[in-house]
Amino acid sequence: MPDTAKTAGKTEPRKVNYRKSKARWHPSMQAIPVPGIRRMVNLAATMKDVVHLSIGQPDLPTPKHIIDAYIDALNAGQTGYTMDAGLPELLVALRDYYGKRYDRKLTRDNILITSGATEAMYLAISATSAPGRQFIVTDPSFLLYAPLIRMNGGEVKFVPTRIENNHQLDPDEVIKAMGPRTFAVILNSPNNPTGAVYPRSTIESIVEECAYRGIQIFSDEVYDHLILDDEEYASVLRCSVDLDNIMCISSFSKTFSMAGLRVGWVISSQATIKSLRRYHMFTTSVANTPSQFAGVAALTGDQQCVRDMVNIYRERRDKIVDLINQTPHLTGYQPGGAFFSFPNLPLHVDGSDLALRMLKETGVCVVPGDAFGEHTTNALRFSFSAPCETIQEAFDRIIPWMAKQQF
Ligand SMILES: Cc1ncc(COP(=O)(O)O)c(C=O)c1O
Repeated sequence: MPDTAKTAGKTEPRKVNYRKSKARWHPSMQAIPVPGIRRMVNLAATMKDVVHLSIGQPDLPTPKHIIDAYIDALNAGQTGYTMDAGLPELLVALRDYYGKRYDRKLTRDNILITSGATEAMYLAISATSAPGRQFIVTDPSFLLYAPLIRMNGGEVKFVPTRIENNHQLDPDEVIKAMGPRTFAVILNSPNNPTGAVYPRSTIESIVEECAYRGIQIFSDEVYDHLILDDEEYASVLRCSVDLDNIMCISSFSKTFSMAGLRVGWVISSQATIKSLRRYHMFTTSVANTPSQFAGVAALTGDQQCVRDMVNIYRERRDKIVDLINQTPHLTGYQPGGAFFSFPNLPLHVDGSDLALRMLKETGVCVVPGDAFGEHTTNALRFSFSAPCETIQEAFDRIIPWMAKQQF
């Protein structure tokens, strides 16, 4: 029976309004948290005289020969799409670079170029996460992993790292966390937010156990060159026999200060790359073309620029470790890589409240620990991607302010 309304003795069909009152998102969107970093940075944007130790990207300039290569590519008319796997010259450069660095035979078909490590991680996780599959992730960890796993129906199993242990990952705890539903382990060394660099013995134990159990490893190695102490970097590419269950993910963003140029990659078995390449075509299709030319210049050019940047980060690390040690109520440690330190406040203190108050009252912006994990609500992330003078200025404000706090 049609829906009707009576008008002037006549029966007419009633008009039904089908307009939706508001957009309805896919329920998986619920898995995306309000990022703690944004909250702080948005507030800071409304304030004057803010000192930022909150930044997650390099502040050092991109080396000139890389910029020149980018501009040259534009001037040469390189403004079209590249091949879907990436610019052939960049695939060759990466093959040679990694092959030499880890003494490992790779082909171009082991590599897919992506729009930053973010796309690489997005492809890896969203192409594999599904109900019934469990992913082991450190707590704290980079804020992308857990929401992406959950958005796609997978389950996150956290393995904590602790300040008492310089936030080192205990391979036995990772192995103990593995069960019949474990699908993958996500590694990130040097780590964001802790700066911890895992030694070869840790990576080898986890790689070996995963190979034995058929568990995947997604290794986020974006900070692989920012090693601040005299130690050999333990990439999964150095520690694994074959690439069947390994995806090594990295980018130019941190090593060469190229975060905005958006080029990253995945290195894995040829079969994995073949599948990811198809998926990549349905997401971003290809990475930015002139940026890929800039990437070739970065890999094939003089590497002194990287050593110079690492020396600067080391000097800042030493300074911030010293200043954190002088700060009342903060417990620090020695981060070995990247450009982050993640000191603790006393156990019961809510880092989020404190960071907000500290921003309002001192003008220093850091990121609260709850942005990175469920068990790190009493931590704060300090970025030392800022000059020594800025770090000093921040602590000139923080130290007396913290001395007045009564917890
Ligand atoms: C651990 C980690 N992985 C990945 C990324 C993203 O890197 P990209 O700029 O290559 O997308 C970041 C950026 O902060 C990061 O800290």
